[in-house]
Amino acid sequence: MADDVKKQWQTMEEKIAHLRQLQAEALKGGGEERIAKMHQQGKLVARERLQVLLDEGSFEEIDMLVRHQTHDFGLFRQRYPGDSVVIGLGKIEGRPVCVFSQDFTVFGGSLGAAHAAKVCKIMDMAMKIGAPVIGLNDSGGARIQEGVVSLGAYADIFLRNTLASGVVPQISAIMGPCAGGAVYSPAITDFIFMVRDKSYMFVTGPNVVKTVTHEEVTFEELGGAMTHASKSGVSHFVAENDVDCLRKIRKLLSFLPLNNAEEPPYRAPKDKPDRQEAALLNIIPANPGKPYEVKEVIRLVVDEGDFFEVHEEYARNIVVGFARLNGYAVGIVANQPAMLAGVLDIDSSLKGARFVRFCDAFNIPIITFVDVPGFLPGTAQEWGGIIKHGAKLLYAYCEATTPKIALILRKAYGGAYDVMSSKHIRGDFNFAWPSAEIAVMGPKGAAEIIFKKEISKAEDPEAALAEKEAEYRDKFANPYLAAEHGYIDEVIEPQMTRPKLCRALELLRNKVDKNPPKKHGNIPL
Ligand code: HXC
Repeated sequence: MADDVKKQWQTMEEKIAHLRQLQAEALKGGGEERIAKMHQQGKLVARERLQVLLDEGSFEEIDMLVRHQTHDFGLFRQRYPGDSVVIGLGKIEGRPVCVFSQDFTVFGGSLGAAHAAKVCKIMDMAMKIGAPVIGLNDSGGARIQEGVVSLGAYADIFLRNTLASGVVPQISAIMGPCAGGAVYSPAITDFIFMVRDKSYMFVTGPNVVKTVTHEEVTFEELGGAMTHASKSGVSHFVAENDVDCLRKIRKLLSFLPLNNAEEPPYRAPKDKPDRQEAALLNIIPANPGKPYEVKEVIRLVVDEGDFFEVHEEYARNIVVGFARLNGYAVGIVANQPAMLAGVLDIDSSLKGARFVRFCDAFNIPIITFVDVPGFLPGTAQEWGGIIKHGAKLLYAYCEATTPKIALILRKAYGGAYDVMSSKHIRGDFNFAWPSAEIAVMGPKGAAEIIFKKEISKAEDPEAALAEKEAEYRDKFANPYLAAEHGYIDEVIEPQMTRPKLCRALELLRNKVDKNPPKKHGNIPL
């Protein structure tokens, strides 16, 4: 063979050198200048984020050489390998996860056909292997040069988010901009993390708001981390910076199964399951009108006092989050007497319902601590639809077939008694402390209604009311009538709470319960 023909053929070394050159180009993303700009803003770039998120050396990147196919507006002259998103598989605490991380240094992380195809590919992979999807969002939205193609590409992702819902956990971190229709992918996922002062989410930005409603509002006020954590409830966690956000995601993952066919992960506890806790004896104030901190009860009961709260800043009259009991992950729902007396209102019903449904979808047992005076009265609540929103929490508890254990600490009044994982809606173990008050309403309100005539005729109506209130309290403000009916399985002494809950959980480990076959229910949305 002639030498000049041979020269056209590359050796393996040369081919490898070419591959490495392509890979190196991809790793540069949008270039050093843009990377430096992000660092100056206190942000990590896409691959750096994945390094913090995933176990060291576990990331397997795919589609590193994908490039967009768009010619318009001179785009074909800028075809970054990998386009504006990094995707792949990795591990968190040794368990597989599928990830995508939008690269703001390439076209502002904007989403066109190639970007979306990569996200869809990794989501499809997650569904096939039964692994959670974690999306790190940092994007200027639809790639403007691609027009309607990018809108269709978003819809391809929304569909996958919806189909994956309840099959694999989906977690979104918002680490930069997330605006317009782009917000709806994270919104469908199970949990949203936001980074304080660095991220925002809104359907329309401050300029459009000003034009349409004449309101002047900053990016942060309109859609920053604290806004969505405390006002809208769109986000579940606020992180101080990128690293804090990624570490919190790792922690959340530690409580979740990989998919809906798995049990939640077990971690050998340092805490004994039969640990009695004398401090619980002094938690409930003698005066039933006085508040106390329900998170203190939770911390005293769960393994190593480790409670990972979800939605901490939103609807604080109900507390939800993850913990472990004797090594097994559980979801905790608790009325919070220290905030609005623990009353159920629209926001707390929504918060509770979404959490209960997540736990049920992923086989996580639900432990409910009850101290609830009822539903919040008022026109704002009634006109805002407390009926349909309260019904969501009721519906969520009713349909849940995961193990359900409830403990009534103090008040369980009215409809709220039924709602909070009561025996009647398939509570598996229903405990009460001796301080429990289970009744249609509080003693004062009850006395005012049923003894109205007697009180009004009395010489001293105030004294008469107090007497009747005491009478009602004696009869109903305790757990024993409910225990007589079998609505409470056992009245337990507070210090025995942890041993009793751990035992109940163990007994329920092989619980099987089913709902009737149906396409899906019609939760009152
Ligand atoms: C293409 C975009 C882009 C986009 C940003 N870039 N957004 N390219 N499509 N949507 C590019 C910029 O041209 C720039 O390129 C680089 O990304 C960084 O952008 P900067 O503006 O320099 O960054 P910054 O000052 O930090 O501002 C970020 C930003 C701003 C606030 C996100 O870029 C912005 O307002 N972008 C447009 C946002 C938007 O209107 N998107 C469409 C939303 S509607 P160079 O080459 O200079 O680095 C939507 C609908 C989705 O998304 C519907 C789904 C159903």
